[in-house]
Amino acid sequence: MVAVAILAAGRGTRMKSRLPKVLHSLGGRSLLERTLDSCRLLDPKRRIAIVGYQAELVKQTLQHKKELEFVEQTEQLGTGHAVQQLLPYLEGFTGDLLVLNGDVPLLRAETLQKLLQFHKTHQNAATILTAHLPNPQGYGRVFCDGYNLVTQIVEDRDCSAAQKQNHRVNGGIYCFNWQKLVEVLPKLSSNNQQQEYYLTEAIDYLQPVMAKDVDDYLEITGINDRKQLAEAHEILQMRIKDYWMSEGVTLIDPDSITIDDTVTLHSDVVIEPQSHLRGNTEIASGSRIGPGSFIENSRIGENVTAMYSVIVNSKVGDGCRIGPYSHLRGEVTVGDACRIGNFVEMKKAIVGNKTNVAHLSYIGDATLGDRVNVGAGTITANYDGKNKHHTQIGSRTKTGANSVFVAPVTIGEDATIAAGSVISKDVPNEALAIARERQKNIEGWHIKED
Ligand code: UD1
Ligand code: MG
Repeated sequence: MVAVAILAAGRGTRMKSRLPKVLHSLGGRSLLERTLDSCRLLDPKRRIAIVGYQAELVKQTLQHKKELEFVEQTEQLGTGHAVQQLLPYLEGFTGDLLVLNGDVPLLRAETLQKLLQFHKTHQNAATILTAHLPNPQGYGRVFCDGYNLVTQIVEDRDCSAAQKQNHRVNGGIYCFNWQKLVEVLPKLSSNNQQQEYYLTEAIDYLQPVMAKDVDDYLEITGINDRKQLAEAHEILQMRIKDYWMSEGVTLIDPDSITIDDTVTLHSDVVIEPQSHLRGNTEIASGSRIGPGSFIENSRIGENVTAMYSVIVNSKVGDGCRIGPYSHLRGEVTVGDACRIGNFVEMKKAIVGNKTNVAHLSYIGDATLGDRVNVGAGTITANYDGKNKHHTQIGSRTKTGANSVFVAPVTIGEDATIAAGSVISKDVPNEALAIARERQKNIEGWHIKED
């Protein structure tokens, strides 16, 4: 049986932030949420977050994690003190306790599985996830004997110059035999440079304690300051991009591109420089995104191009050409083979197939049929100062340049709207609507001379 406890009570002083450290975001998800998700393969019996600094905010942010329990550490007296808070909550629990620092967000789920397996096979009192770091500064150093049995963990700030030469560090991830840990938790002292109760002191009283090296040392990157947060971002991006490239996606100038790990890409997608893919976005095969596009929570069909455009909470069908400089602001559904062009803004719009909105338009709260041609500068005037209203334009209708639709208004199919018209009344099928002053020419007219 396994229980998981995540240490998330600290303020994170080195972040110099009002926000608790564990709520800082890495690629769209908080450090704490990422740490929690790394346990997904373990099927723990209990999942507990130890919260303290701004506990209410931390709880609120994670309230969608239904299986998560919260334990409060009202005073933050160190990582050992944090685990001591579990004593009343885990009374009678038998099994292993996996302790994770809430600021170690890059752990792979498989790593924790392996750690637990190793811990069980060796019947250890405790097993510690360790790594050999090129730059171990800031991490606790782990000292072992020739049998990989841990003899001591010394915090960076408590290390002598000689001890600092040891590059094997504590990843802040531990498996404990809970019943054995219960016996030693009350023995922890605060006799160290920070005068805190260190969890790492527990290993002085436990036997056997083994160290297990992680395969990829980048996984145990701990976030204590903004620089480490930026480094973690880079590591995460590298992982995501390597994966998609191995799945047949071309990234042109990968360093200038960012992709959330919640994004799905299909083979032969090409992402051009300076493009950013966020949230629950999916891009189907053969599409070319960018340069310079931002796509969030949207689905893009096959063989679409989207250059210098912003697409949020929207769907784009197959074979569309979007941009340059289109803005699909939200709740937009574009059919197949459409052209949404330069300086076109859309929101809450449904567009049929083979419809063109090619230049300088605002289409909001509107439904457009198939093969509609929206002339340059067409605007749906959807707002009367109080409420939003809907515009409907039937299939095969052509709107002249600079026409305005004063919503609510319905235009039939195969209709034609003369350029420069302000349409405030419905237009039937196959009608020509002209709503502008007829042109008057005054011949032989000159400006009067003084
Ligand atoms: C800790 C380890 C260090 C290890 C490093 C790995 C100790 C004493 N040191 O150091 O050996 O190399 O992690 O990243 O454990 N927290 C609480 N309550 C507290 C104090 C901290 O819940 O009273 C939480 C923090 O919110 C954080 C985690 O524990 O998520 C670790 O605390 P932090 O201060 O970052 O420890 P490090 O100095 O990084
Ligand atoms: Mg830390």
